[in-house]
Amino acid sequence: MSIDDIYPSLSDLKKRAKRRLPQFAWEYLDSGTGVEDQMKRNRAALDQVLFETRILQGLFEPNQSTTFLGREYAHPFGVAPVGMSGMIWPGAEHILAKGAAQVNIPYCMSAVATVTPEDIAPSLGGNGWMQLYPPTDPEIRRDMIRRARAAGFHTLVLTVDVPHASRRERQRRAQLTIPPRITPKMLWETATHPAWALGTARHGQPRLRFAESYVKAEKGASSTAHPGYLLRGKPDWKYLDDIRAEWDGHIVVKGITSAHDAKKLQDAGVDAVWVSNHSGRQFDGGLSSIETLPAIRTAVGPNYPLIFDSGIEGGLDVLRAIAMGADFVMLGRAFHYALAALGAKGFDQAVFMLSDDIHTNMFQMGIRTLEQASERLITTD
Ligand SMILES: Cc1cc2nc3c(=O)[nH]c(=O)nc-3n(C[C@H](O)[C@H](O)[C@H](O)COP(=O)(O)O)c2cc1C
Repeated sequence: MSIDDIYPSLSDLKKRAKRRLPQFAWEYLDSGTGVEDQMKRNRAALDQVLFETRILQGLFEPNQSTTFLGREYAHPFGVAPVGMSGMIWPGAEHILAKGAAQVNIPYCMSAVATVTPEDIAPSLGGNGWMQLYPPTDPEIRRDMIRRARAAGFHTLVLTVDVPHASRRERQRRAQLTIPPRITPKMLWETATHPAWALGTARHGQPRLRFAESYVKAEKGASSTAHPGYLLRGKPDWKYLDDIRAEWDGHIVVKGITSAHDAKKLQDAGVDAVWVSNHSGRQFDGGLSSIETLPAIRTAVGPNYPLIFDSGIEGGLDVLRAIAMGADFVMLGRAFHYALAALGAKGFDQAVFMLSDDIHTNMFQMGIRTLEQASERLITTD
């Protein structure tokens, strides 16, 4: 039996991931904030996006390659930044960066990764985007940007939807601390999840290595201190202008759910806006990400680059987001469920599952290009 027969959908990978991860890692990956209404709403609203099919289309081959911010990608999706990826699955950042380069999709490294830009540079293959949480100290910001550029990252993603840590109640109950603190419960969880434990022993204790380099340099603090505070700046529009002046590649701003903000970012010279509600991890009282997309598209006009994420679980969801106004779609949890389920093979399976699902659905919809997806939308007004 092929892997695709055993794990044909993301839910199969997710089920296996849950079994193979220690509880604290699972809760970190899978949880939202509050009572997780926004996470549920993300799913429910995607399900409401429906298409007409077309028959008797004759011989054709759907094309899912796409050009985004001047680069051609093989698929219209990529890997969203996930902090502490390497705590979820040992070596995750390397697997994801290398895998993304091989299949020609973007890999966005998190500012709170367990690797540094220099570690990951050899794996990037020209497909690296770098995410930044706003450093409070402009010197640190400039140095992080400089190092990202020197390592070969060409697109900078400034995440702006974490003005303050959210409560993430499930993470608290699981007693997750970053970096992880050794408690009897953690030792038990580790001992009972041997694949994760052995991998972690090989890769070393997961730590925020990029951010941490500044703690050591600046404060001489212990390497186990949480360096997250360095990246909890409270950026304003002037901050954005400063970054614009410091980075000569593309700039994307991530975490936008309002048409007003999107338009302002476009006017401020940002190259693309990333529509996202952080998959319900930050705020439980807003619309689903897909509900916010049409108004944002209207505000920025038809040609301005928009990225979408939050709740994507298959190729059909990718088509839904594109039809509703996105140019490109990113996934965070999905790739990590896949890694936790099957290691590096999981990444390949997730890419195959997503691209095959896009392909087969494009046949059903009778569309040759991704742009045509919106022509098949069923509108109910
Ligand atoms: C465990 C986890 C950690 C994340 N860490 C970051 C991060 O460091 N930086 C960031 O911009 N977004 C982060 N995100 C948000 C993702 O980039 C992305 O917006 C979201 O996961 C997309 O939704 P999906 O997981 O449903 O695909 C994280 C998401 C998860 C699940």
